[in-house]
Amino acid sequence: MLKQMLDYAFQVSSCTSLQPKTKLHIQSLKSMEDNKTDQSTKVIRSANMDNLRTGYLFPEISRREYEHFEKYPNAKIIKLGIGDTTEPIPECIASAMAKQAMALSTVEGYSGYGDEQGEKALRKRIAEKFYKNMDVKWEEVFVSDGAQCDISRVQMLFGSHVTVAVQNPSFPAYIDSTVILGRAGNLQGQNGKYERIVYMECTPQNGFFPDLSNTPRTDIIFFCSPNNPTGTAASAAQLRRLVDFATANGSIIVYDSSYAAYISDGSPTSIFQIPGAKQVAIEISSFSKFAGFTGVRLGWTVVPKELSYSNGFPIIKDYDRIVCTCFNGASNIVQAGGLACLSTEGFQAVSKVLNHYKENAKILREAFRGLGMEVYGGQNAPYLWVHFPGSSSWEVFAEILEKTHILTIPGRGFGPGGESYIRVSSFGHRQTILEASKRLTSSLRKFNFN
Ligand SMILES: Cc1ncc(COP(=O)(O)O)c(C=O)c1O
Repeated sequence: MLKQMLDYAFQVSSCTSLQPKTKLHIQSLKSMEDNKTDQSTKVIRSANMDNLRTGYLFPEISRREYEHFEKYPNAKIIKLGIGDTTEPIPECIASAMAKQAMALSTVEGYSGYGDEQGEKALRKRIAEKFYKNMDVKWEEVFVSDGAQCDISRVQMLFGSHVTVAVQNPSFPAYIDSTVILGRAGNLQGQNGKYERIVYMECTPQNGFFPDLSNTPRTDIIFFCSPNNPTGTAASAAQLRRLVDFATANGSIIVYDSSYAAYISDGSPTSIFQIPGAKQVAIEISSFSKFAGFTGVRLGWTVVPKELSYSNGFPIIKDYDRIVCTCFNGASNIVQAGGLACLSTEGFQAVSKVLNHYKENAKILREAFRGLGMEVYGGQNAPYLWVHFPGSSSWEVFAEILEKTHILTIPGRGFGPGGESYIRVSSFGHRQTILEASKRLTSSLRKFNFN
């Protein structure tokens, strides 16, 4: 909750000083965080919660931003950290949601609870638009309030003894939800890894695709492509190897394609493009970064009918049960927006916004490359993964903030494999990105990162 509140508190425009109201709000949140009451219940805190790494990444970034603001109250901070979209939702999509909202004020247009799995029209449209020729049926598409929640719902399918593999580095929700469910084992101080999680190293040397010949078998394999934070998309040949690996081991791939719309080099946009994937994979995806729905909230998960547990029981039946127990369906207003995104006009409009972010990524990539840095990503994702060999990622983050007033994310926040990298988001207004590029080019040259 505090994370959301802090995130909310920092919803200032991406190139601005903090507003006094925001500042006050943050101060009150900070005092709330420090506040411990004398009166406790007799309920024991879950050992799994205790086992989480201290400090969730994004509130920590927000705290550093606040400290920086206190030090430089007149600084125009540019936020290229948290991956939040900045451009307005196209009018044709916003007006579809407005129309649906207004219909609710009429007797004929009013509707209450919908199907927990989502409206049939939207499920059909998602299947047609994103899974053409992949034999994904609309009944296998579960509409949701976003990929983040679906990661946890999918995790609920499995018991506490399943084993889990993740890319290293990876989006933090896979590991954190694994820890919360008690599957991770202890955090090992010396290497920052949980003892029961298999970390699949993704580095420039292996093209950010793990060496599967060295990867132990696990029940679940979280795999994100294009990957957050590295910004790299797996090729068809690599995904073929992943599906073969899962098939040989009887594992389930939980494939996160939240950034698929950014792919521009012909890499697969879905795991279901790989023959045989329906027997071994679940796919989670989102309208957040595809249509600027980070605040609106809409996503989906595909659970194929062919996918089963070791006893042959279809996993889709359990997923349906979980969705009906934990979720009462996405907002009908938002689903109208989702349908509008997938109309011809809506799709063209969101594609234009995506191209804006891709162009931003190009500008930032050139700025870092001009400084002689190794930069990955940006072509198939809205993120750049910038390498500072031999440096601590938190130190690089701090130095960039100090010298340029630009917020990034230290790669270490995405797991031990992120050390010596920073992630730079290309979400921003064009003016902001040009200003960031200017500041980086003029200030970074003088930096000493070792
Ligand atoms: C890889 C990945 N998956 C899931 C999410 C969450 O997406 P949503 O906004 O749909 O919850 C994010 C958000 O940044 C993400 O980067």
